[in-house]
Amino acid sequence: VGGGGREQAIAWTCRQHGHDVRLAPDLGDASATDTDLVIPGPEAALVAGTSDLAAERGIPCFGPTASLAQLEASKSYARDLATSLDIPGPAFARFDTADAAETWWRDLGKPVVVKLDGLAAGKGVAVPDTEADTIVAIRDAAASGPFLLEERLYGPECSLLVLCDGKNAVALPLAQDHKRIGEGDTGPNTGGMGAYAPAPVAFTGDELIDMFVRPVLDHYSTVGTPYVGVIFAGLMLTADGPRLIEYNVRFGDPEAQTVLPLLDCDLAELALACSNGDLSAVPVVVRPGAAVAVVAASAGYPDAPTTGAT
Ligand code: AMP
Ligand code: GLY
Repeated sequence: VGGGGREQAIAWTCRQHGHDVRLAPDLGDASATDTDLVIPGPEAALVAGTSDLAAERGIPCFGPTASLAQLEASKSYARDLATSLDIPGPAFARFDTADAAETWWRDLGKPVVVKLDGLAAGKGVAVPDTEADTIVAIRDAAASGPFLLEERLYGPECSLLVLCDGKNAVALPLAQDHKRIGEGDTGPNTGGMGAYAPAPVAFTGDELIDMFVRPVLDHYSTVGTPYVGVIFAGLMLTADGPRLIEYNVRFGDPEAQTVLPLLDCDLAELALACSNGDLSAVPVVVRPGAAVAVVAASAGYPDAPTTGAT
């Protein structure tokens, strides 16, 4: 489900293994007799209940339910959950008004990042460099709805994409995406202008799973709603160790375009095994080498992109 670069990469890798893949904006009239597996691409499809609908129709689906997609759809929910599970992250607080946020920021006495609480396609985050810009960012956010302030962390980022079957978790090669629109890491944040994998990180995928993913999987399993799909932990590798920036409930875009071509195994079989609750049935094999993706964006992106160009 979906039609962007990430979904093309998912389709491409499945076709490499002989699967007949159809890209569609939603499930349409797909049924268990004509569709063996659904892989939702965008978070919006998951939040809209694609996995719940697939389950109703008896179609295996590699993605969490709408309820579990809150892990991405609400940044305050994700931060509260991570804090309750002792997952390392920045100081944060949720606000409805600019005044309360400014008071918290001044009390914190450190640079902050301003984030809309809800989904914003990777564009709801401001990383202001000056006091004046911080105040503007807080006021802009307050005008759009509930928002978070987070202590600003520093360090290289990495994207940990993990296949989950409800209890087992396997990391794909670590990727790094580049968020700022401009050359030299300048300008506003975007959903990601490019990525490469594997990223040189001093931790293994398994170590990072133990810190950032296992507690979440165990939690959902314990409360009776096992998580099936990708858990994508955006991490910052600070001088004090890795810290959680955010969770996403899907493959990264453009991370998928770099990570999936490195797989030397059948993604569709892996995804199906996850939806059957038995990821251990299919080994994840990664080929040597590296992959890089560069995003070509429409003029005006990210603020006001022109659409419909051919
Ligand atoms: P998010 O949508 O939460 O992943 O944030 C988008 C981008 O903003 C991240 O990839 C980081 O580059 C930056 N960012 C988010 N939170 C923080 C933070 N607490 N400290 C520093 N940078 C951050
Ligand atoms: N590239 C970051 C994301 O997919 O959220």
